[in-house]
Amino acid sequence: MDHHSIIEEAKARVYEFHDSDSTGHDYWHVMRVYNNARMLQAEEGGDRFIIEVAALFHDMVDYKLTDDEHAQIDAIKAFLEARGVGADVIERIIHAMQAVSYKGGNNTVEVATVEDAIVQDADRLDALGAVGIARTFIYGGNKRHALYDPDRAAREELTFEQYSREDNTMINHFYEKLLKLKGLMHTDAAKRVAEARHQFMEMYLEQFYEEWEGRR
Ligand code: ADP
Ligand code: NI
Repeated sequence: MDHHSIIEEAKARVYEFHDSDSTGHDYWHVMRVYNNARMLQAEEGGDRFIIEVAALFHDMVDYKLTDDEHAQIDAIKAFLEARGVGADVIERIIHAMQAVSYKGGNNTVEVATVEDAIVQDADRLDALGAVGIARTFIYGGNKRHALYDPDRAAREELTFEQYSREDNTMINHFYEKLLKLKGLMHTDAAKRVAEARHQFMEMYLEQFYEEWEGRR
C-alpha cells in the first residue's frame, strides 16, 4: 500500500484512539505534533514516512494513556505489516514512538536517530507557546489545581515569581517544565521555533503578574 494511504488510515486510527481524551492528549494534539514533525523534517531531513507515522502513533504507547503498552505496539506492528511496510522501517517507527516519552526510569529507549529527535521535538513544541499555555490550563483544571496562589509569597516576603517556582499551581508549571523545554530541543529547527514560543510565554507571564497586582 502506498505511503499516502497508510498515513490516511493511521489518522483514522488515531482519531478513534484519542476520541474521549480530556487530559490534553486529544486527537488535535496528535495532529499538531504531526504537523510540527513535518515542518521539522522539511528542514532537518530524516525519513519522512517514519517521522509521520511515529508522530501519529506516539501517544498510543504512552503509559498514561494505555495500560498495555506492549499490546499497543503489537497492534501498530500488525497494522503496518498488513500494509506491506518492511520490518526495518517498522522497527524504526516503533523506536521513534518509544523515544518520544523517554524520561529515564522504565522507558529506556533514548533518542538515537534524526527521526527520534524530530518526533520528540515536535511533541515538546506542542507544550510551548499559545497552545502550550492553553494545554497547561486544561490539564490543571482537569486536576483541580489552583491557577496561582500568592498568599505564601506575601507571608514570606517572596516575590510572586519566586513563590511560583515553589508551588504546584498551573503558573508554577511554567517554571517547573515549560520554560525549560527550549533547552531540551535536539534539532536547530525546533530550537528556533521553541525560542519564539518561549518569548511569547515570558510575555504572557509578565502580563499575568501585572494584571494580578492591578498594575496594567
Ligand atoms: P506529554 O505530552 O509530554 O505526555 P504531559 O502528559 O506531561 O506531557 O502533559 C500534557 C500537557 O499537560 C502538556 O501541555 C503539559 O505541559 C501539561 N501538564 C503536564 N503536567 C502539568 C501540571 N502539573 N500542571 C499543568 N499542566 C501540566
Ligand atoms: Ni504527545
